Amino acid sequence: MTRVLFVCEACGFSADRELYEGQPGGTHLLHQLMPLYENWARKSELEIQTVGCLCACERPRAIALGATNKITYLFGDLPPLESAEALLQLCELYLDSEDGYILPAKLPVSETAAMPEFRLFQQFIRRNYSSSNRVRTL
Ligand code: FES
Repeated sequence: MTRVLFVCEACGFSADRELYEGQPGGTHLLHQLMPLYENWARKSELEIQTVGCLCACERPRAIALGATNKITYLFGDLPPLESAEALLQLCELYLDSEDGYILPAKLPVSETAAMPEFRLFQQFIRRNYSSSNRVRTL
């Protein structure tokens, strides 16, 4: 079964700032994510692919999570420097779910001191059922 986390590397850093230290927000998110992924116990169960755009530019720092015969999720508005750990927690919940559905109350919460109550993945854009690993736009 193919399971993929797609990360848009082109998304801007914030609502009013395209670049931070010369790089877009999606690239920063990837730089935070990849070292954790390399040491992740479940790395063999899911691959990470970068994309140039997920057509969610109005909700930047977008990611999609999809697998054969599972729900495909598309999330946006992720803080680029503080989402990596929670993203892998999201992936674990997704892998453990038979159809990919994750109860909203179980979605990961950031543990950074700056945003203790911020629910990273509440900025849900859309989800749909997919019989393939393609991301479909409703
Ligand atoms: S540039 Fe990231 S979703 Fe379009």
